[in-house]
Amino acid sequence: MQPVRIGIIGVGNISGIYLKNLSEFRSTQIVAVADLDLERAKAVAEKHGIPQALSPEALLASADVEFVLNLTIPNAHGSVALQAVRAGKHVYNEKPLSVETAESKLLLEEAAKHGVLVGCAPDTFLGGGIQTCRALIDSGAIGEPVAANAFMLCHGHETWHPSPEFYYQKGGGPMLDMGPYYITALINLLGGIRRVSGSTRATFPTRTITSQPKARKVIDVETPTHLTGSMDFVSGAIGQITTSFDVYSDPLPNIVIYGSEGTLIVPDPNGFGGQPKIRLAKDDTFRTVELTHGYSDNERGIGVADMCHVIRNGGSHRASGALAYHALEVMHAFTQSSESERHIHLTSMVERPAPMDVDTYADERVKA
Ligand SMILES: NC(=O)c1ccc[n+]([C@@H]2O[C@H](COP(=O)([O-])OP(=O)(O)OC[C@H]3O[C@@H](n4cnc5c(N)ncnc54)[C@H](O)[C@@H]3O)[C@@H](O)[C@H]2O)c1
Repeated sequence: MQPVRIGIIGVGNISGIYLKNLSEFRSTQIVAVADLDLERAKAVAEKHGIPQALSPEALLASADVEFVLNLTIPNAHGSVALQAVRAGKHVYNEKPLSVETAESKLLLEEAAKHGVLVGCAPDTFLGGGIQTCRALIDSGAIGEPVAANAFMLCHGHETWHPSPEFYYQKGGGPMLDMGPYYITALINLLGGIRRVSGSTRATFPTRTITSQPKARKVIDVETPTHLTGSMDFVSGAIGQITTSFDVYSDPLPNIVIYGSEGTLIVPDPNGFGGQPKIRLAKDDTFRTVELTHGYSDNERGIGVADMCHVIRNGGSHRASGALAYHALEVMHAFTQSSESERHIHLTSMVERPAPMDVDTYADERVKA
């Protein structure tokens, strides 16, 4: 199988792990990188031995590129991806799919029209941690899923990220930043969501960067920074999620799934591995479950590899645009609900992605 020829647009903070992992999968080959900052693209190309460093426009026009990996900031996800599909290229966005649902809907429609695929991060739900939990739930280990609680509370990213402004602009905030990991994991475990309600606030009107090189720069906060939402899954299960950039010292687990016969603690959905823990009605305490599935290190890009495998072999890729669109609609609906003081019924629906197929992916990594 010839690898899919990938061009990366946006080579900032997160690009390093993609550049490393996608050089190791059989189905992927990075042939070009691009950035608004061409010098940055050139430096990355030189460091990673990528043949071409281009402007974004030149990469989109390149006949050598058949797949665009869009690692730009959230505000640019929609426009870059739309240009990619209109140029006849498959596209995989970092999360969220785009900032606005209307833009994402147009992207999926245009991709269908041009006969190309759309994929989107996160792909952490394809890792061993959450796939092991999925297998436990599907085997009935905790009985019928009743409810889920999810928590992602911290004090934001201005202490470590070199350019943290986007986290506080429209399209940022803890829900659009971290919610994709949690909501996607919950949809993978429990299925689609039919309605939500939410409450939101922004505790601090400004943020002061303390990381270098922008230390002391003040950012105006343009988005809610503490959100709590409830979700009614089609299955009948009820979920709750809180995401925050406003608080310190959260002692709560990442995700807990409560079943009619037991409780499952799901590892951090912002990682690929971790240790699930289960406690059944007869147990005195939680016990750790050994992972039954692979890909449990920093595997960012396995969703790209899965999509490229499908481009060459057919089938359905798991970290899909449809899944990301449903998650995006859910995340926006929390804020809409808070503003309108009512439940929001979702317009989109997805099937759960197929569980990871251990046989297909056993030899996907060239360098295991
Ligand atoms: N940094 C992380 O730990 C992390 C983790 C997971 C996901 N993400 C996601 O990855 C994406 C990128 O995050 P990052 O931390 O690498 O950001 P970053 O600011 O470090 O890098 C973004 C890069 O994209 C370039 N860029 C911006 N707009 C562009 C455009 N229109 N065309 C071409 N290039 C453009 C910038 O010049 C920059 O080099 C975001 O969507 C973020 O949510 C980041």
